[in-house]
Amino acid sequence: MSRPVVIETVAGMREALAGVADVALVPTMGALHEGHLALVDRAAELAGTVVVSIFVNPLQFGPNEDLTRYPRTLDADLEALAGRGVAYVFAPPADEMYPDGGTQVRVTGGPVAATLEGAARPGHFDGVLTVVAKLLGIVRPGHVVFGQKDAQQLFLVQRMVHDLNIATSVDVVETVRAPDGLALSSRNRFLDADARSAALALSRALEAAASSADRGIDAVLAAAQSVLMDEDLVKLDYLKVVDPRTFQPVDDDYRGPARVLIAARVGDTRLIDNESLYLT
Ligand code: PAF
Repeated sequence: MSRPVVIETVAGMREALAGVADVALVPTMGALHEGHLALVDRAAELAGTVVVSIFVNPLQFGPNEDLTRYPRTLDADLEALAGRGVAYVFAPPADEMYPDGGTQVRVTGGPVAATLEGAARPGHFDGVLTVVAKLLGIVRPGHVVFGQKDAQQLFLVQRMVHDLNIATSVDVVETVRAPDGLALSSRNRFLDADARSAALALSRALEAAASSADRGIDAVLAAAQSVLMDEDLVKLDYLKVVDPRTFQPVDDDYRGPARVLIAARVGDTRLIDNESLYLT
């Protein structure tokens, strides 16, 4: 099956898309799995020309994070995309995206970017938003497709597109899970058998939370916590319920749509997961 054409330069990407109006972009850092492929399939429904970017963005990794350990599997990624209706893979080297080593101007995510994932990973979301803004500027897609799995990233990208009047539509695809419930993530490959089985506590905790939604926020948190505390290998970082419209934690008497978010270290791998619920 035919593979996408790989483009490594900004000028090459612009040239390939000159005069093409109907473009959907799927931004990724590679190490593609079925979760990414669901984004690609959605993009192919939305537009005639699909671009997948594969760029491990140094700007969104902290000094003690896994930038060098992050899997780079371009050949396997191209194979996974073959026959899936992807015209171009934009895979620039770091010095093509950041010829000066970084950017002088950055997009900042404001207060929400300093909470939850942003508290654990200072500067992370500014790095994400900056590279997404660059990718949108380079590809100028009518649609850009993101997964619900990185809920806070999705929220901030939606806010950026809204606040900065960027002419694209942000399309969302639900989290893809393994049959046993584990949310697919490029980091799952770091889990050994024990850690992988312990990691199921995250999705089980979300299920327990969702099934307690009719008993209020305290019951939701208690139900999730008791599942997570049963697993010695799971070290909880945060368990929070937020209002999806603001990403602020909800009050005790809150009623309405909500999202429960979990981040935990399982062995030495940090995992996140989330689920929507309706508090009554
Ligand atoms: O979700 C990711 O893989 C990355 O954060 C993204 C959106 C591709 C930006 O580097």
